Amino acid sequence: MSDTLRIGVAGLGTVGTGTLELLNKHYEMIAHRCGRPVLVTAVSARDRRKERGLELSGVRWFEDATAMAADPEIDVLIELIGGSDGIAKATVETALEHGKHVITANKALIAHHGNELALKAEKAGVVLACEAAVCGGIPVIKTIREGLAANAIQSIYGILNGTSNFILSTMRESGREFGEVLLEAQKLGYAEADPSFDVDGVDAAHKLAILTALAYNCEIDFESVHVEGIREISTIDVNFAEELGYRIKLLGIARLSDGGVEQRVHPCMVRKNKPIANVEGVYNAVVAEGDFVGDILCEGQGAGAGPTASSVVGDLIDIARGIRMPTFSVPASALERRPTRPMSENYGGYYLRLMALDRPGVIADITAALRDDGISVESMVQRGRGPGGEAVPVVLTTHETHEANMMRALERLSALDSVLEPPRLIRIETL
Ligand code: HSE
Repeated sequence: MSDTLRIGVAGLGTVGTGTLELLNKHYEMIAHRCGRPVLVTAVSARDRRKERGLELSGVRWFEDATAMAADPEIDVLIELIGGSDGIAKATVETALEHGKHVITANKALIAHHGNELALKAEKAGVVLACEAAVCGGIPVIKTIREGLAANAIQSIYGILNGTSNFILSTMRESGREFGEVLLEAQKLGYAEADPSFDVDGVDAAHKLAILTALAYNCEIDFESVHVEGIREISTIDVNFAEELGYRIKLLGIARLSDGGVEQRVHPCMVRKNKPIANVEGVYNAVVAEGDFVGDILCEGQGAGAGPTASSVVGDLIDIARGIRMPTFSVPASALERRPTRPMSENYGGYYLRLMALDRPGVIADITAALRDDGISVESMVQRGRGPGGEAVPVVLTTHETHEANMMRALERLSALDSVLEPPRLIRIETL
């Protein structure tokens, strides 16, 4: 059929295979919904001989993904290779330069190069779509860019990494420590072979940077995201959080205030009765607060073949239907450059855990260190008594203060003779 939309898929890993399976299974339904067939006519992957369980007869095979991206018989290039640079970037650039629409699930690529790639797409008059790059199967980009387009977004936050959420949920449920649960996540195939992007907050930061651009019509500024991961979270903190009425979640949070954009990814204490506190396991969730709609929460599977393919093909169906949306909420040339609100200006309550000697005057020293920066203690718990003089946990929560004050107080606390380990700090988010 002359109006068939011809697709080239670069990368046949989990998501690539899932995408081909979906397009094959729903070929008729998608053609009906789009009013035209959508057909994979070319693929490119590293190993041609690998058994993937796919029917690829009649599909052209390219050793070189960039050659496929330049091929005149391709209308849309789907990039599922991954990585912020290298072959993935070269393939996307080649496709855009040759006037092809591009769909990608590659959050690292968009977080690092989204501005320039969106501009390239705009100049070429083609679409660059990346729904699958943020929270897998959750249509969060469409929700912000289209569903909430009538709202000023006051804040957007969420659980953007399923692996970290699985680890924190399992630590709480099983009482096991981080390292052990991480091994389980790796065995279950949730964590990457190198899990640092998951547990150090980088993957969540990639996604947050994309959401920020969509919510605030600004250029992506990944370098300005404040990033902390969950490696330092211990079951002691998970249990104290529970006792104090909180859950610990790795959240990505973005807000616009006084013209500055705040973007941060770090473990947070969230009240147990908040919906986001009850999103467990590998699930992701995003809450957007619009000035007219109020809060909306989108929850679902943030990774895996089926959910990610669902988003990839959702973008493809838009293109087949003739829908042309800018990559972010406004044309790439109209994205604004916004100043970053420094983390030192963050204002909130804090959870602190100190491992301190149990002897007279220690609590006075600790509260004095907080007092000297005007920090008011909300609650304090000391547990156990070390018969041999070993350290015991002293847990405090504070009333709201500026982060700059807390950082100065933390230096004083760390320097106390009676405090034997680096203090652990977790921000309390009222959300
Ligand atoms: N590794 C990611 C996660 C999935 O654990 O959420 C893909 O972004």
